[in-house]
Amino acid sequence: MLPGPTNVPERVTQAMLTHMINHRGNDFVELYEDIIHKTQNVFQTDGDIVVLSSSGTGAVEASVVNLIKKGDKVIIPVNGEFSSRLSQLLEMQGANTIKIVTPPGENATFEQVKETFDNNPDVKAFYVVHNETSTGTQIKYLDKISNLTYRNNCYYIVDSVSLLGGSYLPVDKWNIDICVTGSQKAIAAPPGISIISVNERTKKYMMNNPPPTMYFNLPRYFNYYAKSKETPFTPAIPILYAYREALSIILEEGLDIRIKRHKICSDALYSSLTAMGFKPFAKEADRSISIIALNYLAGLDDKIFRNTLAEKFKVLVAGGFGDLKGKVFRIGCMGEINKYHVMRTISSISSTLNMMNYKTDSTSFRIAQDKLSELESS
Ligand SMILES: Cc1ncc(COP(=O)(O)O)c(C=O)c1O
Repeated sequence: MLPGPTNVPERVTQAMLTHMINHRGNDFVELYEDIIHKTQNVFQTDGDIVVLSSSGTGAVEASVVNLIKKGDKVIIPVNGEFSSRLSQLLEMQGANTIKIVTPPGENATFEQVKETFDNNPDVKAFYVVHNETSTGTQIKYLDKISNLTYRNNCYYIVDSVSLLGGSYLPVDKWNIDICVTGSQKAIAAPPGISIISVNERTKKYMMNNPPPTMYFNLPRYFNYYAKSKETPFTPAIPILYAYREALSIILEEGLDIRIKRHKICSDALYSSLTAMGFKPFAKEADRSISIIALNYLAGLDDKIFRNTLAEKFKVLVAGGFGDLKGKVFRIGCMGEINKYHVMRTISSISSTLNMMNYKTDSTSFRIAQDKLSELESS
């Protein structure tokens, strides 16, 4: 139940047990083309897709080094570890960042974002972390941003490393120029692959202004794909097989059904754990579907709580980041998440609380079961 890597279906694990193939041969071309088409379906885009053999940070970095030049003005909301890292990365690239800083657990409002756009008509790009994994917040107005980016003629970049595949994110419909994610979260593949979508106008800009880098040089990837349907460098072949299988599973289930499943499981976790006495860390309207961050009950020790859950019940949850260490714990509600995972997590947390002399009753089970019954009717 981690915020990543998440559980990987057996079919995906099995797909990695393969002979090595030549990444300059027909087998690879067939694999990679299939991956590109399936990824376009999951991202809901006709744009170019590049699959990088790196963790999510690789695709995030590629989204910056291929677009941003020294002195470019960039707007970015900042309220946690991953949005801070992204703003640092932009500054390392020489960007002049205009940060909309809000307290952890709280998103900038759409009005704040709009006002920042109004005050900065010359902005080149808007970077946003869709789902702040460190605090469990999710930005829910991404559909409205393109009115602003269109008006200000600026690029729109979304880091959805911890949500794409688990929530509605139609890249083309929402006019997102670059969208990035990782393999190991809502997509439910092993870590090691990051994925980036780039639309036509952004690709054109990158081709005309290539970055002074080698590995994350996206024009090299575009050229290789156009010429031979290959990647410029040796890809992580076993993970690509696994990733393709994970994409097939997503498309077999259907994106709409998958998103609904995430939402129902998330609702069940929030409401039953709230009934147990935990208070979600994030403001209600900003709460993430995929990362359930909860404040610890008074006196509840982080280490003992998480170790007991792990050792006695084989349920892994994550601790807090930075200042939130010891104050919150985080449950990943992504990928394979289903009724079984939710009920097992709730019962294990309840038993752990009892073992640590906190009182619980069966209310939270009834609430979860009630919410989860929607899975059967969906
Ligand atoms: C929102 C977000 N962006 C970027 C990253 C970085 O991904 P990785 O650790 O795979 O490099 C993460 C990782 O959790 C994330 O949650």
